[in-house]
Order: sequence, then C-alpha cells, then structure tokens
Amino acid sequence: MLTEKDFIATTYSSLESANFEWSAPSNIALVKYWGKKEQVSSIPGEKSEQIPANPSISFTLNQCKTITKLGVLKKSDTKDFSFDLLFEGKPKEDFKPKIQKFFERIEVYCPYLKEYHFTIDTQNTFPHSSGIASSASGMAALAVSIMSLEKAITPSLSDDYFNAKTSFLARLGSGSACRSIKGEVVIWGNHAKTANSSDLFGVAFSEVHEYFKNFQDTILLVDKGEKQVSSTVGHDLMHNHPYAEQRFGQAHENLTAIKEVLTSGNIAAFIKIVESEALTLHAMMMTSMPYFILMKPNTLEIINKIWNYRNETQIPVCFTLDAGANVHVLYPSTVKEKVMQFIQNELVVYCQNGQYICDQIGTGAKSN
Ligand code: DP6
Repeated sequence: MLTEKDFIATTYSSLESANFEWSAPSNIALVKYWGKKEQVSSIPGEKSEQIPANPSISFTLNQCKTITKLGVLKKSDTKDFSFDLLFEGKPKEDFKPKIQKFFERIEVYCPYLKEYHFTIDTQNTFPHSSGIASSASGMAALAVSIMSLEKAITPSLSDDYFNAKTSFLARLGSGSACRSIKGEVVIWGNHAKTANSSDLFGVAFSEVHEYFKNFQDTILLVDKGEKQVSSTVGHDLMHNHPYAEQRFGQAHENLTAIKEVLTSGNIAAFIKIVESEALTLHAMMMTSMPYFILMKPNTLEIINKIWNYRNETQIPVCFTLDAGANVHVLYPSTVKEKVMQFIQNELVVYCQNGQYICDQIGTGAKSN
C-alpha cells in the first residue's frame, strides 16, 4: 500500500521549457464525503492534510470540466514559487492564494516546483458561477498538468504511479478532486470491504453493471449564487457534530451496499442509497452548530416532482445534491428521451433562467 513517503519525488532531471494541456472533469458523489479527520503523516513531523472522515464514491462526469494549459519555464533561482494565473484568458488575482497554498502543500512531494516559472491558463466548460463546484475539476486539471512535468523529468514513472500520485496531489487541492482523475466510478477513503482503497487517493471501481454505462446526470441550476458556506467550513462543522460518528459509520455501510448494487444493476436499491445520502448530507448541515440550509424552495419542488413522476411512471429516475441548491437528476440512458421531456415540461420552470446542463458518466482526465 502506498504511503505519503512513496509520493516524494527523489531522482529527477530538469528541463528548460515545456507546455502541457489537460482537461479534467467534475464528479458527483453517490456516497458523500463530508468531514475530515486529523492524522499523523508517515513523514516524520508532518500532519496529513485532507484526510476524509469517511470513504466516498462518485460518478465521474464528462461535459463539466476544466481545461488547463500549463506553461513551464526554467528560472535562475529556486527561492519562491513563481506563477501567473489566467482564467478564461484574463489574469485572475483572486485565485492566486488558493494556488499558492496548493503549491505549499505539495512541495514536499514535488520538490522541483521552485525551479520553474509556471503560466497556468485555465477555463471551465460550464457557465461561470453556475453553482457547480469547479474546485474538483480545477484542482484535478492542475494536478495532472504538474504530473506531466514530473513525468517529463522522471521518464521511468509507471502509469499506475502517475495516476495514483495525480489523485494524491489533487486531493491536497480539494478532497473531491482526487475522484476526478481516472475511472468512471471512483472510491476514495479507507474502506474495509474495498481491498485497494486509500485515504490518500482515489481508486477506480470497475465492476459496474452494463445498466450504469452511459448513466445520465442532468444538472438543474436552481441557484447560481455564491455559496453561503464554503465546503471547507462545512467539513469543519463535522468536528463535535452530535451525529458525526453515526454518519461516518453509515457512509461505510452505504459504500458496501452501493458497490454491490452497482455490480448487480439493482436500480431500486441504488435510488434508495443515493437519495438518502443526498438528504443526509443536507441533514448534517442543518444539525451542525452553526446550522445552515443550502437547499432552496425550488430544490424541494424538484425533489417532489421527481418522486411523483417516478411513482406514476415507474421510470427509474432519482436525484442527488451537492453542497448547494442545484439538483443532479440521475437516470439510465435508455429512458433519456422520456426523462428529458419530463425535465423540460415540469422541472425547467424551477431552474434559474431555465438553465440546466446535460452530462453523463465519463472516464476522467485527458491530455489534449
Ligand atoms: C458535498 O472536495 O469541495 O461535494 O476537500 O475542502 O476542497 P475540500 O471539499 P470538497 O467537498 C465536497 C463535498 C461534497 C461531497 C462530495 O463530493 O463527496
């Protein structure tokens, strides 16, 4: 099993200049990551960062992604990190502290970073401020671009190591980003019933039934405003939360159950776990101190419409939620036409400016 020490680059060469371009998708959790735990690192004197309090599993998305170009130029000193940041072609100063912090966190594993000046040119395929978390796709795209540099100066890196370290680095940028690197369904976090699982990086879960191939995710944009509570603050509120231990235990059980469901293709059981997970995530927010509500009235309208529609038609469509008001509508591709009709007839009215995004399961980061 790989430990933190294994991710420290030790022997590498250097290069004068290079350009890399990657896209990395967002992902939608089925069993949610909500809460981080304190842990001592395998590196003496270090504390592990971004360790999930429970394991999670997600569908990798396809259309909602970040495209990042990384320009690399050798510099004469190795004093500080040096980078320019462009978002949609324009300098973006307010993103810089997050990148600076990311570089600081990963420096111990990528000690070559200060040898270079970076130009990070990044854009998202989904509308700006759509309420869709761009941190997962953004951090995944940046991590994989940095790993391209590492690969260029360490040609002996295996593909497996490349993927594991990319996910490891992405996690240090944003926890859920580690599930956006490789695989259609990804598990992150130690789980007794998943042999190769790790708190440090995501692993692909490949025993997935045909039924879930091309599974659809239509994201209804209910509220595109800035989040009232950042994920980081939200995770923190799971410390001393009255229901934390129960919740973490439940996530382990739900992961065991959903793996079996994904393998057998049992859609009724899938729906129960996924919707319960979404509501539990929001229940945790409502019962923390301070408490908060991220759902909007239209979120509830949509949930009720989906339940009515499913009861009346027996069409297997369900919902999940992120840490926000938007609703992810999940269904197999075989019922796509009918569900799209339903969405247009009955749900679009609850979306801000009638906006929604059609997405489906994808395979992870791609070199452009
Ligand atoms: C509700 O990965 O955004 O989407 O690790 O602090 O960056 P940080 O948090 P983040 O949290 C995502 C939480 C979630 C559930 C999930 O994706 O599992």
